[in-house]
Formats: sequence, structure tokens, C-alpha cells
Amino acid sequence: MYRKGETVKVVAVSGSPRMKSVTESLLNCFLEGLGPDTSITRFYPYRMNLKFCQACWHCWLKTPGKCVLDDDMADALLALDEADLVVLASPLYVDGFPGAVKAFVDRIIPLIEPAITVDAEGHSRHRRRRMHHQTAVLIATCGFPEVDNFNVMRSHFVAMCKNAGWNYGGELVISQSGIARVPGVFDEKYLLAKKAGQECRLGRISNETMESISRPILDHETYRQVVNASFEGGFRGQASELLRQALNGDKKALV
Ligand SMILES: Cc1cc2nc3c(=O)[nH]c(=O)nc-3n(C[C@H](O)[C@H](O)[C@H](O)COP(=O)(O)O)c2cc1C
Repeated sequence: MYRKGETVKVVAVSGSPRMKSVTESLLNCFLEGLGPDTSITRFYPYRMNLKFCQACWHCWLKTPGKCVLDDDMADALLALDEADLVVLASPLYVDGFPGAVKAFVDRIIPLIEPAITVDAEGHSRHRRRRMHHQTAVLIATCGFPEVDNFNVMRSHFVAMCKNAGWNYGGELVISQSGIARVPGVFDEKYLLAKKAGQECRLGRISNETMESISRPILDHETYRQVVNASFEGGFRGQASELLRQALNGDKKALV
């Protein structure tokens, strides 16, 4: 997908409000995997001066391509227009994208044209003003144990790609983030995120990597027990003992 020696322009959107974000740790590994000749511009919707789209349609009808709002999105739109790869890293909030991430994505309207056209699947679309090949990858984490918690977000992301004129480049969705900060527990996920970055650079993230990174570490019931125990005293005492047993002793607890 990317020619050798060519600089790949990446926009990385880090969608957690937390300073110690698990999602961002995975994003960092993915970006590292992309390797050299990569120019990365990061945006943090929760830390930006980011207003909501006002639906005034100035960017379509009065000042084509230019948003009337004066905030940090101006820089993001320039970067998004130029990008070869958009990496959307987001925690799952109430089964979807967090408010600030959605507010960020809603603001891409100046990049697309008002005219309604028809895509290859016969579906109504707006074209990008400046059409060029752009790929988007989703990296998402959630606190519940089951991977199907991402179903709504995954469908939304696929639809979002079509809406924004991005080629869908794959998704890394990781549940059980409640144990992510226990030393060593997420190490394999970080390695797989880096591998996904390497694969992405070479063409596409393999299904095997996407499946492996999504595989839950603990069975659902053990995870619930460990996390519930951690609410009282953190990962010391009972929570740590349950986790240790699950990871080392009772192999049945491993999925
Ligand atoms: C407001 C809010 C809503 C959440 N909703 C869900 C949810 O619907 N399902 C789920 O599994 N986790 C949910 N979580 C947990 C986060 O998805 C999880 O902790 C995530 O991995 C945090 O990522 P971060 O460390 O990058 O911020 C929610 C967390 C918050 C703060």
C-alpha cells in the first residue's frame, strides 16, 4: 500500500480523557510498528479547544471547505485532508464513541462536498473535496469482558469510513481493560498492536493479528471476580491472588 522510502502521513486521534490511557498505550505501540518514514500528527479531542458542529452549512454553501468556527479543529482538518492513514483510538463509552471523539469526527464536514452522489454499492454519499487514498484503523478498548461489547462501535466505524471517504483498514478491539495496568498482563496485546502497525505499513493488518489481539485474557466470570475484588483494595490481596491463580494455576480460567 505504501511505497518503500515514502513518508506516510498519519493522523492519530487519541480519544481518552485519561492521562494514563490504556487505549493510548496500544495506539503508541501501533504507531511504533509503522516504523520509520512516518510523520505523525496527534490530536486529543478531550484536550483540544473543540466546539460542536453548528450545522450552519457555511462550509458547504458560503465558504466552501472552510468552517466558521474558530478553534483547534482548523489544524486537524488540514492534517486530515493530507493524511494517508487515520488511526482512531478510542475507549468505549456507553457502547459507542465518547462524546468528544464524536464531536471531532462530526467536524470533518468541510472536507466533503454538498452534492449527493452514488457510491459503487449504490449508496448515497458525499464525495471528498480532495479525493486521495486514505485508510483508517480503529483501536478501541473497553472494561467489560466480552468482545461483543464493540459490536455497535465496529459497525459505526465501518459506516464512518464510508461517510468520510476512508478505506477501512481494520480494527484492534480489546476488552478487559480493567486488568490492563497489572504489570505484564497486557504485554502480549502491546506486542500485537506493534505487529499490527508493521502489517499496516506493509499493506493490511492480518485477520490473525486482529483476532489474536481481541482474544480475552480471562474467561468472563473470572474477569468479573478479579475486577470486582480489585474495587476493594486494588490489585493486592484477593484480586491479585485470583488473577495469579487464573494466569498460572488454573489453566481452565484462560480462554
Ligand atoms: C463514561 C464511561 C462509559 C463507559 N462505558 C462502557 C461500556 O459501555 N462498556 C464497556 O465495556 N466499558 C465501558 N467503559 C469502560 C472503558 O471503556 C474502559 O475503561 C476503557 O478501556 C478506558 O480506556 P482508557 O484507559 O484509554 O481511557 C466506560 C467508561 C466510562 C468512563
